[in-house]
Amino acid sequence: MGQVDVLQGPQVAGSVSELRAAVRQFRGAGETLALVPTMGALHEGHIALVRQAQALAQRVAVSIFVNPTQFAPNEDFSRYPRTFDTDVEKLRQAGVDLVYAPGPADMYPPGFCTQISLSGPALGLETDFRSHFFSGVAIVVAKLLTQSGADFAVFGEKDYQQLRVVTQMARDLDLAVQIVPGPTVREADGLALSSRNRYLSPEDRAVAPVIYKALTVAAAAIRAGTPPTTAVLAASTTIAEAGLRVDYVAARNADTLADLTSHQEPIRLLVAAWLGSTRLIDNIGV
Ligand code: PAF
Repeated sequence: MGQVDVLQGPQVAGSVSELRAAVRQFRGAGETLALVPTMGALHEGHIALVRQAQALAQRVAVSIFVNPTQFAPNEDFSRYPRTFDTDVEKLRQAGVDLVYAPGPADMYPPGFCTQISLSGPALGLETDFRSHFFSGVAIVVAKLLTQSGADFAVFGEKDYQQLRVVTQMARDLDLAVQIVPGPTVREADGLALSSRNRYLSPEDRAVAPVIYKALTVAAAAIRAGTPPTTAVLAASTTIAEAGLRVDYVAARNADTLADLTSHQEPIRLLVAAWLGSTRLIDNIGV
C-alpha cells in the first residue's frame, strides 16, 4: 500500500462525498494523508509542495478549486487560468494519489452563510489592498482541511501572509492538522514562480526580477545594520523606478506579521507591486 499507480494516474474526487470515500480507504489501510491546496494552473512550485507532502505522509491529495470568495468583483476570477487536464497530468507524473476538484456548488451550496473573522497576521499588507481576500481564503481552507481530515497541509511561503493566517487559524480552531511551509521556488533570475506570471508580457517578464533583487539587497542591508525602514524605502524606490506600481514594501515580524518593535525580532520583508495589469507578490526572510 502507499504506492501510486503512476500509469493510471490519481483518483479524481469531484465532491466531498467522493473525497471522504477515498480518504476512508487510506485511513482503513492505516495511512497518513497530506494535502496540497491549490487553485490549479500548476507549476514547478506546486510540484515542489507535492514532493514535500510525499515526504510527510503515505498518501498525498491535491485540491484544485478556483475559490470565488477570495476574488473581489474587479479581480481576475473569470480569467484566472484553468488548466485542469494539464494539471492532472502533472500530478500523475508526480505520483499524487488523489485530486480533489469540487465545483462551486459543492463548496458553497445555496444558503451558505458562514464566515471566519480574522485578525492578527491577517491585518494590514494584503488586507489593505484586498480586504475580502483572507476571509475567502480562510473559509475555503477551513473547509478543505475539515473535508479531507488531512494530517498535514503544505502551503507555499510565496504567499507568506496566507501561510501565517492559515497557521494561526488552524491553531486557534484546534484543527487536527499540521500546517507545513514550503520554500518559494524561483526562476533562474529570481522571479518567484506564480500561476499569474503567465499574464506577463515578454517586456514585463524581463523587468519582474527587480522585486527579488530589491528584496535581496534590502535583506543584506538590514543584516549589515541598516534600519529596516531605510532598507524598505530603498527597495520600494528601486521597484518603482523599474516601472512597477508599488502597493507595499514592508518589514514585519516574521511570525506575527506585526510591525517591528525591537532589534531582536525575526524579520520578513514583503512586497506587492503591479507590473502592467498583473499584481505580483514576493517576500524573503532577513
Ligand atoms: O494559494 C492558493 O492557491 C489559494 O489561496 C488556496 C490556499 C488554494 C485557497 O484557495
